Amino acid sequence: MTTEDSETAILTFLSASPETVIEDTYPWSQSSNLDHKTVVGAIKSLLADKYVVVENLETSFYSFTEEGQSILDNGSQEILVLKALNEAGKLSIPDLQAKVGKDVAKIGMGNCMKAKWIKKDGQDLVPVAKEDEVEDTVRKQLQGLRDADFKIDALSDQDAKDLKRRKCINLVTVKSHRVSRGSAYQPQRVKKAADLTKEMLDSGAWETAEFKPYNFLVLGEKVGGGFLHPLLKVRAEFRKILMEMGFQEMPTNKWVESSFWNFDSLFQPQSHPARDAHDTFFIKEPAQTVSVPEEYYERVKTMHEIGGAGSIGYRYDFRREEAMKNLLRTHTTAVSSQMLYKLANQPGGFKPARYFSIDRVFRNETMDATHLCEFHQVEGLVADYNLSLGDLIGTIETFFKKIGITQLRFKPAFNPYTEPSMEIFGYHPDLKKWTEIGNSGMFRPEMLQPMGLPENVRVIAWGLSLERPTMIKYRISNIRDLFGHKVEMARTQNAPICRFEDATASA
Ligand code: PHE
Repeated sequence: MTTEDSETAILTFLSASPETVIEDTYPWSQSSNLDHKTVVGAIKSLLADKYVVVENLETSFYSFTEEGQSILDNGSQEILVLKALNEAGKLSIPDLQAKVGKDVAKIGMGNCMKAKWIKKDGQDLVPVAKEDEVEDTVRKQLQGLRDADFKIDALSDQDAKDLKRRKCINLVTVKSHRVSRGSAYQPQRVKKAADLTKEMLDSGAWETAEFKPYNFLVLGEKVGGGFLHPLLKVRAEFRKILMEMGFQEMPTNKWVESSFWNFDSLFQPQSHPARDAHDTFFIKEPAQTVSVPEEYYERVKTMHEIGGAGSIGYRYDFRREEAMKNLLRTHTTAVSSQMLYKLANQPGGFKPARYFSIDRVFRNETMDATHLCEFHQVEGLVADYNLSLGDLIGTIETFFKKIGITQLRFKPAFNPYTEPSMEIFGYHPDLKKWTEIGNSGMFRPEMLQPMGLPENVRVIAWGLSLERPTMIKYRISNIRDLFGHKVEMARTQNAPICRFEDATASA
């Protein structure tokens, strides 16, 4: 029986006459073969639309426990014990227990002794009375209660107390309603429309339809839209932090770069092992880039071959063919160098700038639990006059503090394009050890001078992977659970939003 069936039953019942009332929904439901809870639900709904008015009722009555029902059916424990003893003449306690059951024997024996219906004879129990000579008071009380429809006043206070103590009855309280017609009563429910539909607009039904009022208190339905991958959530948070620090995003929407921008412009010699096909994915088709800025190309070539800006260069023959090779960028620094070149050559000349990027890079690596062939880099750079290593350390500290990493250490390192270079280590409070979290440095004059940047302009830069902080944040230990075809969709759908604790806020 549905709520609608109950609604119909209630409205039909009330249709008999304007004065008709349901005196009490509880017995009414029973006699109408309806579930009382469903009836109450239907009444609440009818009440909201003023089809009915209700008064609240509360009725208490007794009900039998399992034990009470059993006494009513078979007699009380004391009568069962007396019967058994009369049948056998006499019984030892274990024999009595075997005959009537342990529970019945225990309660029955006690009560028979108290009433002096039985006595002890050595180890045995013998009857003193016959069961038809005595009265089964408990059973009689229960019969009386049943015959009086379980009403409260069917039992004296003392009897009720005794029966409750013997766990024969319970007091039950039922909340129910007295129901009569409301101001908007109609014998049939007219459902209010919940939505304005195309059909209603087509037919004109919307003009007369009654609409449900808006309920602004209900929770909205879950939107089944897209979900941001954990990497994208962390990226969004990093982006926000970097923008707060005054950094502008670089356009990184190009995965294919020339070797020229990925390596040569960064003063990375053409014989450098990273430029091997074992480390880099070269593109077969088209294998060569179309163009590079020729004047700048010449200056880069000269820097590699014979040096400048106080450097002696690498002293080898710079090959155009090598520079023009297309590849999947191995780092986003390939984009940083293009931005710096633009910054140096923009109309009006160089102006100080802060740039960042967060995007994908590719390396021809052996894959394992922590390495894939593609990953994401976060990179930041500041170009300004007379920057020092102190500026780099300060900027890095501010950034990491904003993602909640306060303990940092710097270790001298080597990059072909930065001098000095520093690896960044952060203290991992879960692992309780220092872990490498990034790389950084000041771009070399050999890289900056060919671009045409003023001589006293310094560029400080740092980079880190997006995967490392994401795996720590979302407690993912295998990178294949984070990225690639084995990622569980549910993980992405259920990943909480990413917020980093900003340690600069409290410091
Ligand atoms: N490009 C470096 C890497 O791929 C990171 C880096 C960026 C280092 C900027 C120094 C300065 O690891």
